[in-house]
Amino acid sequence: MGIYGRHFCLPACLPSPTEPDHPPHRSCFPFRVAPPRSLHLAAMMPDLPFLPFCTLLGSLGLGCVAFVGAWCQHWRGGFAWDGSARMFNWHPVLMVTGMVVLYGAAALVYRLPPAWRGPKLPWKMLHSTLALTAFILAVLGLVAVFNFHNASGTPNMYSLHSWLGLATILLFSCQWVAGFSAFLLPYAPTWLRALYKPIHIFFGSTILMLSMASCVSGINEKLFFSLKNGTASVPYKLLPPEAVFANILGLLIILFVVLVLCALANPSWKRPEADSLDTHQPLLGAEH
Ligand code: HEM
Repeated sequence: MGIYGRHFCLPACLPSPTEPDHPPHRSCFPFRVAPPRSLHLAAMMPDLPFLPFCTLLGSLGLGCVAFVGAWCQHWRGGFAWDGSARMFNWHPVLMVTGMVVLYGAAALVYRLPPAWRGPKLPWKMLHSTLALTAFILAVLGLVAVFNFHNASGTPNMYSLHSWLGLATILLFSCQWVAGFSAFLLPYAPTWLRALYKPIHIFFGSTILMLSMASCVSGINEKLFFSLKNGTASVPYKLLPPEAVFANILGLLIILFVVLVLCALANPSWKRPEADSLDTHQPLLGAEH
C-alpha cells in the first residue's frame, strides 16, 4: 500500500456519528493538498503494525522489571525497608518500574487505536494516572536511597547520577502538574492548551530520555561501588556474571526507551487530531 493510502485514510475519514459532514481533513485528500512535513518521516519508518509492536514493548518492559528485581534479589541481598543496603535495593527497582516502564506506557496511551475513537477523557485519565503512579514509585525510590544514605552516614547528592536523577524527577513533577492543570482542569483557556500541548509532548520525550540516562548512570555507579577491586571476589573489570547481567539490564532499558521514542515519532500511529472533538475536554468541565 502506498504511503498516502496507508497513513491518511485511517478512521479520521470514516463517517463519524458526531461529525457526519465534516470539512475535508487535510489527510483525506492526499493528492489535493501538500503533504504535511511529517510525511517524510512516515516514509522512512518501517511499516509495522502497532499492536504487535506494543506487545514487544510490553514484554521488554516486563523484562526490565524482572532483570532489575533479579539483580537486586540474587546478587545484592534482596529487599527490606530498614535503612540497610537491602533498603537501597528498592531504589533501582522502583526507578526502573516507575520512571521507565510505567512512564513509557503512559506516553504511549494516545497511540492505542481504541483511543482514537470516542471521548478522549478516559484516555487522558489513564495517561495521567499512569504518570502519577510512576511519580509515586519514583518518590518511594528516592525515599529508599536517601534513608539508606542517612542511616549509613553517606553524604547525599554528590554524584552526577544523583544530580541528573533529581533534575529528572523535578522536571517530571512540573510536567505532571502543568499537564493536569492545562488538560484536565477546566480553567485553562483553549488557546493556552493548544500552545502548551507541543511543549508537553517535547518534555514528555525529554524526561523519558533523562530517565534512561539516570538509570544507565545509576547501574554503572552501583557496579563500580559493589564490584570494587579488593572487596569483590571478582572485580568489575574482570566481568563477573553480575556485571554481565546488570550491563544487559542497561541495554534492555535503552532498547525499551528507544522503541518507545520510535513509536511516539511514527506519524501513522498518531491519533488523527481532526477526529478528536474533545481534544480540549477538561476533567471538571461540561461534556460536549
Ligand atoms: C530515573 C531513574 C533514577 C533516578 C531519578 C535516580 C535518582 C537518584 C538520586 C536523586 C540519588 C541521590 C540520593 C542521595 O544522594 O541520597 C540516587 C542515588 C543513587 N542511585 Fe539512583 N536514580 C535512578 C535510577 C537508578 C538505578 C537504575 C540505579 C541502579 C542501581 C541507581 C543507583 C543509584 C546509586 C548507587 C545511588 C547512590 C550513589 C549516589 O548518590 O549517586 N539509580 N539516585
